[in-house]
Amino acid sequence: MKKDTIQTFIPAFFAGRSIFITGATGFIGKALIEKLLRSCPDVVEIFLLMRPKKRIGANDRLKQMLNNKLFDKLQTERPSSFDKLIPVTGDAAAVDLGLSPADRQMIIDKVSVIFHVAASVRFDDSLKDAIFNNTRSTRDVCILASNMKNLAVLLHVSSTYTQIDKCVVNEILYPPEIDWRRAIEIAESVDEHTLRILTAKYIGNMPNTYVFTKKLAEQVISDYSESLPCVLLRPSIVISTMEDPVKGWLDNFNGPIGTLIGGGKGILRVFYADPTVVSDFIPVDLIVKLMIITAWHRGLKTISEDKTAHVYNCSSNSLKKLNMMQIQQTGFEIVRQIPIEGIIWSPHTTLTKNRWMYYILMLLLHVLPALCIDSIIKLCGARPMLLKLQRKVYVSNSALSYFLLNEWSFKNSQALNILSNLNAENAKDFGADLMNIDVREYFKNGIIGSKIYLLNEDMKNLEAARLHRKRMDWLHNIIKMMFIISVLWMIYRKNILSNIANLFVEGI
Ligand SMILES: NC(=O)c1ccc[n+]([C@@H]2O[C@H](COP(=O)([O-])OP(=O)(O)OC[C@H]3O[C@@H](n4cnc5c(N)ncnc54)[C@H](OP(=O)(O)O)[C@@H]3O)[C@@H](O)[C@H]2O)c1
Repeated sequence: MKKDTIQTFIPAFFAGRSIFITGATGFIGKALIEKLLRSCPDVVEIFLLMRPKKRIGANDRLKQMLNNKLFDKLQTERPSSFDKLIPVTGDAAAVDLGLSPADRQMIIDKVSVIFHVAASVRFDDSLKDAIFNNTRSTRDVCILASNMKNLAVLLHVSSTYTQIDKCVVNEILYPPEIDWRRAIEIAESVDEHTLRILTAKYIGNMPNTYVFTKKLAEQVISDYSESLPCVLLRPSIVISTMEDPVKGWLDNFNGPIGTLIGGGKGILRVFYADPTVVSDFIPVDLIVKLMIITAWHRGLKTISEDKTAHVYNCSSNSLKKLNMMQIQQTGFEIVRQIPIEGIIWSPHTTLTKNRWMYYILMLLLHVLPALCIDSIIKLCGARPMLLKLQRKVYVSNSALSYFLLNEWSFKNSQALNILSNLNAENAKDFGADLMNIDVREYFKNGIIGSKIYLLNEDMKNLEAARLHRKRMDWLHNIIKMMFIISVLWMIYRKNILSNIANLFVEGI
């Protein structure tokens, strides 16, 4: 491929290259693979680091993954492109990524572009596991990259939340606070029990081990960027696709769409969050486009020409801003028109930032109804599950509360610039019209996407779902009226009783 074309046309840069991706089976990883295969058709092959899971090996996991509806378009248009996907068994948490010597050598010989996406995104991992999964894996990806003769770019996916000890997060590398080498040594040498005791002190002002170890991983990249052509990409909260390859695709209940689905189903009645906080969300197709564009841009210069890591915050900072309450209102209008099937109560969620109010409402609206419904289910001979579900809701709301009660400004001018400066040819496949996003339409697609891709619902059943929602509204209103009448009755009775008591006292 001519040098000029590579400079000006993104797919030309990837043509003839072998790519290595970690985290391929995840939310962002799947979307990245799909986009690379579809929009960079001359990629030679993509090696995917995969660990066996639930006794399913890497090859079968790949087959399972390709059944995801995300890949339907590619399946119809160019099914042969799937032959380019080569699963490689490994484990990011193991030393040297758990690669066999032969696979390692093959990757070193062939690969020139790396996307390091894998991470354990659990907030409650032990420090040891989180360091192995998120920090040491990044070091080992860098070591692997250092051995490659043809490396053009190593892109590391971080998170804007790694820098939440600052109110404003800029698109720069921040100086290290804790030595990542020492952290890995500690995780390798100190036993699990002792580390658990030391964790809170060690992670300091970081809210959990995920954020702490992803922050350390940024420092790994910072150090290696002197000898490797690195991109550090920080997404904020990644949610459903805007349009590419389909509208509203997602593979998890994280973020605001998940909350709307929980509320829409009638399970999430109260949510511990500050209604005025503006949370930062970004669609997964936009992240993937930015990954490809920024990798291309960094790859145009060798490390001797440019010794800096390119840093981008992928956030919605200067774009349309909605606070939690506005998202909630917009979302519930949609969820009422396009209800989830089989809702257990009329859709509504109360947001509160008052901890005590949250506990009281949680007991009244989550725990008590769950106990009642579970008892009925048990009496019918089935397995109760609502209390267990509400426990999970509580645990996840608690884990997220730090992010739901605080607000940050993630500056994103570098990411927006690179996106808006694409030439017309690149903009066709990799551009996005961010200034004219219709938020309501976006959330509507996200809710429809959740029904189709997560809940496996058929949109033909929408009328039945609407009828069921209306019945639940009636039931909700009847119970609300009965509750109000009972309270009024009790107040009235109390007055009668206190009047009698007063008369009695006066009589004496
Ligand atoms: N989603 C977001 O909102 C968001 C926001 C900011 C940053 N990020 C970052 O984006 C990246 C991807 O996130 P995601 O949302 O796609 O997460 P995800 O859906 O949980 O995917 C994580 C991926 O990493 C893989 N992985 C984890 N531990 C591994 C190990 N020990 N060995 C091999 N593979 C391993 C998982 O493989 P298995 O299938 O085997 O588990 C999966 O493919 C992460 O680095 C995360 O920190 C995500």
